[in-house]
This record gives sequence, structure tokens and C-alpha cells, in this order.
Amino acid sequence: MERGLDVNLTLGVFDDAKRLVGFVSARRGGPKRMQHMADIGPLYVRADAQRQGFGRALMEAVLQHSADAGVRQAELCVDVENTGAQALYLALGFHIFGRRPRSVLINGIGRDDYLMIKALDGADLTRGA
Ligand SMILES: CC(C)(COP(=O)(O)OP(=O)(O)OC[C@H]1O[C@@H](n2cnc3c(N)ncnc32)[C@H](O)[C@@H]1OP(=O)(O)O)[C@@H](O)C(=O)NCCC(=O)NCCS
Repeated sequence: MERGLDVNLTLGVFDDAKRLVGFVSARRGGPKRMQHMADIGPLYVRADAQRQGFGRALMEAVLQHSADAGVRQAELCVDVENTGAQALYLALGFHIFGRRPRSVLINGIGRDDYLMIKALDGADLTRGA
């Protein structure tokens, strides 16, 4: 586990057999004018370990690392039909600020994403939402 968030950070949870239970990554903006933000994701928890709090714990840890490193806002995207992940992000204080059409192509079929954001410095970023 890295301590800071110079550019990229990945945090993992492992079971007693040292098998990966879940992970989350974050990428901080590169240019100086974008270093106040970080893109969070992917976030993944093994199917047999879901709904036990690992996803929330990973998100809280990566958001804390980001805030400690001076990141002022966290952003992510989530499939519009992924209501489970959306519930987690909403519970953590993210809100939807946009919808990206045809964000990914799965077997040639376009799927939309919601774009979500959370201020880490207490700012009100809900304008325009
Ligand atoms: C989304 C994901 C990371 C959540 O991880 P998790 O460890 O199961 O989540 P947690 O146990 O910490 O859940 C925290 C809260 O999020 C919400 N939540 C999580 N999964 C949910 C689901 N399937 N349906 C409804 N709410 C859900 C609930 O409010 C939950 O609290 P509760 O269990 O007390 O009701 C996990 O389901 C996953 O890896 N899914 C496949 C990959 C994926 O979709 N990643 C996100 C892409 S943006």
C-alpha cells in the first residue's frame, strides 16, 4: 500500500489466505491545475464477499488518503443500471452531476454512465447538478 497519492493509488483487502477480496484505485489529476481532483475506480469486491462492508471500507480509505494528500474533490463514473454501486456512492456523499451517453460498448451495445462527484474540503459542488 502506498501512503500518498502523487498520481496513482491502489488499495486492496486480502483474506487470511492472502487472496484478494477487493480493491479500489484512484488517479490524481496530472497537470497542476487538475491536481485538486482524483478519479476513483475501478472498485471491485469479490462476489462471495459482497454486502459485508468491504466496498464502503475501501471507498472510505481511498477518500481519506486522497484528502490527506490534498485532493479537494473525488469523481467517478458508474453504469446507470448499477444501482447497488450508486447506493454506496450516494451513502458516501457523492451526487450525480451528469450522464455520459455510450460511455462503454459491450458487445457493440452502448451503455450510459452517471458521473458523480464528492467534495473532500466541504465545498458546495451541487451547483449545476
Ligand atoms: C459495488 C460493490 C463494490 C459494493 O461492494 P460491497 O462490499 O458489496 O459494498 P458494502 O457491503 O460496503 O455496501 C455498503 C452499502 O452500499 C449499498 N450497496 C452495496 N451493494 C448493494 C447492492 N447490490 N444493492 C443495493 N445496495 C447496495 C448498501 O447501502 C450497502 O449498505 P448495507 O449493506 O448496509 O445495506 C460490489 O458490489 C462490486 O464489486 N460489484 C461489482 C463491481 C462494481 O459494480 N463496481 C463498481 C463499479 S462503478
